[in-house]
Amino acid sequence: MQDLQTLETEITKNLSAAADLETVENIRISELGKKGRVSLLMRELGKMSPDEKKEFGPKLNQLKNTLNTAINDRKNKLEEEALNKKLNSERIDISLSPVMEEPGSIHPITQVMDEVTEIFTEMGFSVAEGPEIEEDFYNFTALNIPEEHPARQMHDTFYFPEDGEGNRKVLRTHTSPVQIRTMMNDEPPYRIIAPGRTYRNDSDATHTPMFHQVEALVIDKDIHMGHLKWCIEEFARKFFEIDNVKIRFRPSYFPFTEPSAEVDIGCSFENGEVLIGEGDDWLEIMGCGMVNERVLENVNLDPGEYQGFAFGMGLDRIAMLKWGIPDLRDFFAADLRWLKHYGFQALDIPSLSTRSSIIRGSK
Ligand code: PHE
Repeated sequence: MQDLQTLETEITKNLSAAADLETVENIRISELGKKGRVSLLMRELGKMSPDEKKEFGPKLNQLKNTLNTAINDRKNKLEEEALNKKLNSERIDISLSPVMEEPGSIHPITQVMDEVTEIFTEMGFSVAEGPEIEEDFYNFTALNIPEEHPARQMHDTFYFPEDGEGNRKVLRTHTSPVQIRTMMNDEPPYRIIAPGRTYRNDSDATHTPMFHQVEALVIDKDIHMGHLKWCIEEFARKFFEIDNVKIRFRPSYFPFTEPSAEVDIGCSFENGEVLIGEGDDWLEIMGCGMVNERVLENVNLDPGEYQGFAFGMGLDRIAMLKWGIPDLRDFFAADLRWLKHYGFQALDIPSLSTRSSIIRGSK
């Protein structure tokens, strides 16, 4: 029988030299596996005399146990080393200063849309929507602007190519088509606002090809121009946060309202800045009027029974006025510095009443 001590020394030496778990496992198989050297020795015990058995049996068992322990120890050691290596390489360097996240801000147009919506929903209006790619019928025809009507030229419309049947879709030139969609889809009475994007082929300091409007429509059996006037005055007071806001109705023309008016708001221009509610100057903020009987007939309402008013207001324009932003094109230039300056905090939006001081201060 082989010198067990020499065998043990050899194997333990191999084990401590094993650099990875795979090598350890190979040693285990070649020593203690089915055909391993130690296992074969165990098998030889059977052929031995009782005296030899007595001598080698306990020694072999001892060797087996020693080797099992040594193999497990080596495995644990290697596993621990691997884990430590991993932990070291993944260590968080707390001496590095953190990367600060830039807080985003609310775009002034979004802010205005929210404020306008809040003011009108408080008055009992609900919000309606319509598509920006609109059918000619809703954008023009149903609003009493037939083919060849000169008002079509006023709108600098973006047209889509004709479809097979000669119809051209348009990028809606105003939010008024939502009036038609509302009246065709629901039963009267109506009291809606429709904020959204609108498009005209026009570009200078106060016009961009895409801009925003909010439409309002109120139809019932007893609505008159006094209601229209009150609504607009109430809105202007709340939006501009000025009690004695001055409003002027200037006779005008829109095919879909009769009578029609444009609404100006009292202001003053000082050193190129606009101050709302002061001075003797006027700035146009919206178009409005009593919904034309023809429009009511187009949506199968009886003008003898129902009547009401509508107005359409440029949201970009009232945003410029409220915060003294001089160039409309800046709204859409996506300049982060501009947004940081004019944008609004996302979470901590000051309420309408507390913000007046900030606005006044920034003018
Ligand atoms: N749609 C008109 C425009 O864009 C505004 C308007 C709306 C006028 C509703 C009267 C009534 O110019």
